Amino acid sequence: MRKPIIAGNWKMNNTISDSLALIEEIKKHKLNENVEAVVCVPFTSLSEVKKAIESTNIKLGAQNLHWEENGAYTGEISPLMLKEIGIDYCIIGHSERRQYFNETDETVNKKIKTALKHNIKPIVCVGETLEEREAGREEEIVKEQVLKAFEDIDIKDVENIVIAYEPIWAIGTGKTASSEDANQMCKFIRSIIKRKYEEKTGENIRIQYGGSVKPNTIKELMEKEDIDGALVGGASLIAEDFAKLVNH
Ligand code: PGA
Repeated sequence: MRKPIIAGNWKMNNTISDSLALIEEIKKHKLNENVEAVVCVPFTSLSEVKKAIESTNIKLGAQNLHWEENGAYTGEISPLMLKEIGIDYCIIGHSERRQYFNETDETVNKKIKTALKHNIKPIVCVGETLEEREAGREEEIVKEQVLKAFEDIDIKDVENIVIAYEPIWAIGTGKTASSEDANQMCKFIRSIIKRKYEEKTGENIRIQYGGSVKPNTIKELMEKEDIDGALVGGASLIAEDFAKLVNH
């Protein structure tokens, strides 16, 4: 059985004090323990949020990492730095990083390998643009992203990876993919993993949908067979909404 996973992506929002205020609000809600709840917070807030969630089931994630452990990479964050804080997850290859910060399928693949080496579970984002979908190329694009992300990834590590299917046109726009379209793509991604590895591996890997997920859309998405959770931006910044998403 795949455990559902709802991950909040706070993006570049919340100072340390804002982050602590939000996490304290989230902690006031009783969260369903059968659902994994993750908060992916800015680097500067990781240590403090880690302390704040100590006695809860909430997991901690970062939003990026560098593939090297150390060196002359001004401004970058090493997996060792994140590991010491005790993070569980790291978002890798978010479309905003691909779009604004030159993240490529190659760097995504390197980052996944580094994360796995340090026991940080990657949440790997894939998804097509509006033009690509309108041209009917969404499966081709997503397939290429998935295959490149998983290049030389050992079968034993695959189930520690979460894939987030996030159609770029649905992120922060208020447009959600229909639950049928979202499920169809998640199923397609699962079939790629089954073919590359084993049937069982594909059955066990968790695949999230992301893009304008809100409390009023989560239930329908989660009822779909191949959608195991959501990666959520905007709605994860409101404690009550985040709790509703986890408790869908
Ligand atoms: P959104 O962001 O929920 O605000 O659309 C999702 C994401 O970028 O992960």
